[in-house]
Amino acid sequence: MSIVEQSRQGNVLILTVNNPPVNAFSPGVPEGLHAGLDVAEKDESIRAVVIIGGGRTFIAGADIRTFNLPREQAPDLRGFISRLDQFPKATVAAIHGTALGGGLEVTLACHYRVAVPDAQLGLPEVKLGVLPGAGGTQRLPRVVGAARALEMMLSGTPIKATQAHQLGLVDELIEGDLLAGAVKFASEHADARPLPRISERKVEGGTPDLFTKVRQDIKKTHKGQLSPTYIVDLVEIASSKAFADGWAAEARLFVMAKDSPQSRALRHVFFADRERAKIPGITKETPVSEIRKVGVIGAGTMGGGIAMNYLNAGIPVTIVETAPENLERGLATIRRNYENTARKGRLTLDEVEQRLALLTPTLDMADLADADLIIEAVFENMEVKKDIFTRLDRVAKPGAILATNTSTLDINEIAAVTKRPESVIGLHFFSPANVMKLLEIVRADQTSPSVLATSLKMAKTIGKVGVVVGVCNGFVGNRMLYAYREQANRLVLEGARPQDVDAAMHALGLPMGPFEMSDMAGLDIGYMARREQAKKDGRPLPDDWLDRVVELGRKGQKTRGGVYDYAEGSRTPTPSPVVEQLVADYRAEKGVRGREITPEETTKRLAYALMNEGAKILQEGIALRSSDIDVIYVNGYGFPAYRGGPMQYASEQGLGNVVKDLESYGMTPAPLLKTLASEGKTFAQYDQERAKG
Ligand code: 3HC
Repeated sequence: MSIVEQSRQGNVLILTVNNPPVNAFSPGVPEGLHAGLDVAEKDESIRAVVIIGGGRTFIAGADIRTFNLPREQAPDLRGFISRLDQFPKATVAAIHGTALGGGLEVTLACHYRVAVPDAQLGLPEVKLGVLPGAGGTQRLPRVVGAARALEMMLSGTPIKATQAHQLGLVDELIEGDLLAGAVKFASEHADARPLPRISERKVEGGTPDLFTKVRQDIKKTHKGQLSPTYIVDLVEIASSKAFADGWAAEARLFVMAKDSPQSRALRHVFFADRERAKIPGITKETPVSEIRKVGVIGAGTMGGGIAMNYLNAGIPVTIVETAPENLERGLATIRRNYENTARKGRLTLDEVEQRLALLTPTLDMADLADADLIIEAVFENMEVKKDIFTRLDRVAKPGAILATNTSTLDINEIAAVTKRPESVIGLHFFSPANVMKLLEIVRADQTSPSVLATSLKMAKTIGKVGVVVGVCNGFVGNRMLYAYREQANRLVLEGARPQDVDAAMHALGLPMGPFEMSDMAGLDIGYMARREQAKKDGRPLPDDWLDRVVELGRKGQKTRGGVYDYAEGSRTPTPSPVVEQLVADYRAEKGVRGREITPEETTKRLAYALMNEGAKILQEGIALRSSDIDVIYVNGYGFPAYRGGPMQYASEQGLGNVVKDLESYGMTPAPLLKTLASEGKTFAQYDQERAKG
């Protein structure tokens, strides 16, 4: 089958794009489409052309993989679109699946668009740090008006064809056979003259007030990002200048956006998100079992949040507690959470009741006998967990998945108390568990491929981003966080103020810095964990300024004082004179003379502390790919996607420069980092080489 197939029905030439899986506009596609237009131009008996996608979708966009190619080698989407716009015979785009980005731009250059009602149309380029670069910024506002076009391009969210039809973006909805309907439509409109060209229309609603308001809005919604500002500029040009001017400006800004580190980062995240489910040893043949019933042990904050994920997906949950009052408290919290969502209009009260009806509370673990998946979510204590798993082993049916939500403990040790370690896995949810997208799926030594594959599928069912990791203290995310926090503490010891440290991370685009985050989570948790670990390792108990903050009873937001002070009922941190004095005393005691530390040094030390630990994790095989680490940080720790995650961020700086910086700060570069730096490679190249074996 050729990449663009030509066929005829009466006087209509049909061009079918066959470039699976998503009919991206890859090399070969423009050539095939041009060849089709050549035929239509020469053959007088052809009166109209229909462009349609083969397989599951219309063209889903430019081929993102070609963005790194030199211009001459990249498929010429703009060239094709220019020709289409001026084509002398009627052209009709027949849309099913998704017409996204360059795909939608192809349809906008056609004279007409028809679609099946559930097709999706959108310009998602902003999510890749670019902008619609083949006329989208100029044509979409000419159809749907400036305000709606901005909304679509700045959110990147597609709309359904039914809505597109109401907006005039789709000329006709076709129920039933799309191709037959499109051919009929094309025949009926073949003789229309002049042919309707979007490029000849005027933009409605492009007022100065609109642009002022949108520019204000994106400072918040797209803080620090480049391409949204370009999109607004281009819609403004579309509203005030000739089409040709906007078309030329769009080409210039597209290249600037595409070649920016932000776009490289967002493209990295796009592909990283698709790589993460590719696990060596797991194939399409790996058996996946159905999760029809779930058990959750522990109705605290974590257990309740975990249960809600399954209730939201329509999966019944049995939740177990040890005492009736704990159970009641847990259920009340779940109900309150749902009712709050309903109050915000995101659920109806009926839906709240439907979800709660799927929840069975119990004090008896034996009630978990028919669960397909059981998740233990009690506090972090190895002996308690071992006891639970010993009992679970007796109760759970054969083949049930036994999961622990531990964030630090050795899952192999937990698995060893059961007679079925192959069924044991870690499912590390992040708090609040019903909100946070990330799920670390922790593969223990004996976890079976089927249990892993089922867990990955289950993550998708409940809308989580599941990333497979190995067993170590803190797994991937929290282990890196320990190194990051240690660096943050050190920066303060050396002279930075906590608010400067946090500000440096805001500047990088994180919503919270390390101290704001610790105050929110509760400083006592880390304090206890560090002590536990030190005892276990036979090391002296840790002592740094932050431990002393905890010893003053300042545990964070919950005690209205931690590293920062908090006014009654407020979560806004204000610098604390008590902590300032404590730090000054601590420095004096340790003989440290505080020095001025630049924001640049602060940002680098913190971001590189994450990456350096990530490099160790990668070399140990705890993470399969550096891109998995980035997915974890983007989805679980607020690392901005437009920086790509800590590994991509470091690669973007040049790993050689990173090593020099680390050494100049007295930090020890991880061995893998040094090797890659000496070979002039990036982490992404390391991933690719490893994937090839
Ligand atoms: N270019 C290259 N590869 C693409 C691609 C694209 N535009 N879109 C998807 N793919 C690849 C994916 O990487 C994946 O590859 P893999 O199997 O090797 O991992 C495969 O196609 C299937 O993709 P998904 O797993 O995402 O499939 P889904 O069915 O879940 O989703 C989709 C399909 C909704 C089309 C989704 O892939 C998507 O959102 N793609 C991106 C669409 C997009 O952003 N288009 C705009 C591109 S930029 C542009 O057009 C610029 C222009 O204005 C100049």
